Amino acid sequence: MGTSEATSWLVPDLDSVTAPGHWVMTSSPFADRLIDLSNSGLLALMVSIGHRTGLFDAMATVSAATSSEIADRAGLNERYVREWLAAMTTGRMVDHDPREMTFTLPAEHAAHLTRAAGAGNSAVGFQLLGMLAAVEDQVVDCFWRGVGLPSSEFSRFQAICAELSWAALDAGLLEAVLPLVPGLSQRLHGGIDVADVGCGWGHALNLMAEAFPASRFVGCDVSDEALAAGRTEAERKGLGNVQFERRDASAIGVTEGFDFITSFGVVHDQARPDLVLRGIARAMRPGGTYLCVEIGASSTLADNVGLPWAAGMYTLSCMHCIPVSLASGGTGLGAMWGDQLARQLFAEAGLLVQDVKQLPPDPFNNYYIATKDRSSDDQPELQQPELQVQPAGSRQHPNPMADNSATQEEYPE
Ligand SMILES: C[S@@+](CC[C@H](N)C(=O)[O-])C[C@H]1O[C@@H](n2cnc3c(N)ncnc32)[C@H](O)[C@@H]1O
Repeated sequence: MGTSEATSWLVPDLDSVTAPGHWVMTSSPFADRLIDLSNSGLLALMVSIGHRTGLFDAMATVSAATSSEIADRAGLNERYVREWLAAMTTGRMVDHDPREMTFTLPAEHAAHLTRAAGAGNSAVGFQLLGMLAAVEDQVVDCFWRGVGLPSSEFSRFQAICAELSWAALDAGLLEAVLPLVPGLSQRLHGGIDVADVGCGWGHALNLMAEAFPASRFVGCDVSDEALAAGRTEAERKGLGNVQFERRDASAIGVTEGFDFITSFGVVHDQARPDLVLRGIARAMRPGGTYLCVEIGASSTLADNVGLPWAAGMYTLSCMHCIPVSLASGGTGLGAMWGDQLARQLFAEAGLLVQDVKQLPPDPFNNYYIATKDRSSDDQPELQQPELQVQPAGSRQHPNPMADNSATQEEYPE
């Protein structure tokens, strides 16, 4: 089907909705569910707005307040705040006193909706709905034409990702995630080379760099915005052992340069996850570890029906992960590629999965702990040019990714 034929469907065909009985409301559990779904979806946008405008935070600081008082406190326009409060009231998010015309955010709701809740602030994730809604026209077009949508089309994607992971990393990276890898903390204290592939705003890396000053850290990403944010935080923290490099994960181009490599929610978006994983295997030193965090799901759709968040994750995948992968020539692995396929791709890349762990505060993700399969060294060379990097322990060139023009003298084999 051509583009013009495809886009003609974007214009509603009103003749097709004049069938007799169309306006007769039929009640059924499914009809009720649809009303509920529509209400919840629209209300979810209001939750995002409540977070972005600081309305939840403002309400949490007062017991009961009028719309004017809440608007003043948040520095916002009263008319919009009043309508938002109406949505919040009828959506049972805030309590309303009709005599006093006041509104209250119950403490048990504030515990899930305010910045003070830190990693427990569920409102952060609701921003994804607005981001996806903004590209609906393009995604509909993608359905017709089978094309992709580059990451740059998703406004605020980097900022939302960073905000989603920031508090969780603060709460759990050092205390819960790194201890999943036996002996890792001691190695980090001793001084090793670490890379975070698809580092985003680099908060994970900066936290590690701060906690383990004897180790050296490199973050790579294709987003200049993300890399700049990582550098800014590193400078603010005065970190001299972390660097951020613009580098495509499918062309890391390092041989045995790192003792510990991480990727947090990156592999499934890739056009060539096979190249990414093989590059990671190749970049690992003997005895090194790869910690790969990916959505915990089955590769078999039927197995995921009982997962409470599966429908939302498939939606995110359909509207973001698939178009982004297709836009860069990939086949669209999807966020829900699942455990079986992940293990298969790891094995094909020469990565031995030692363990797969879950953390109770993070029910969405699997934490794959993998080492390098030495027999994979026999695999054919990758297409991208590679660096030879210095052996573990040397500090002359703290960043194995830093210089593609390195000579043999600078990087002895
Ligand atoms: C879902 S975000 C996760 C960011 C970060 N790891 C976190 O947990 O907050 C995925 C990141 O991977 C980056 N990315 C996507 N494709 C990449 C590629 N081919 N090479 C390097 N980075 C890539 C994106 O720019 C984005 O920052």
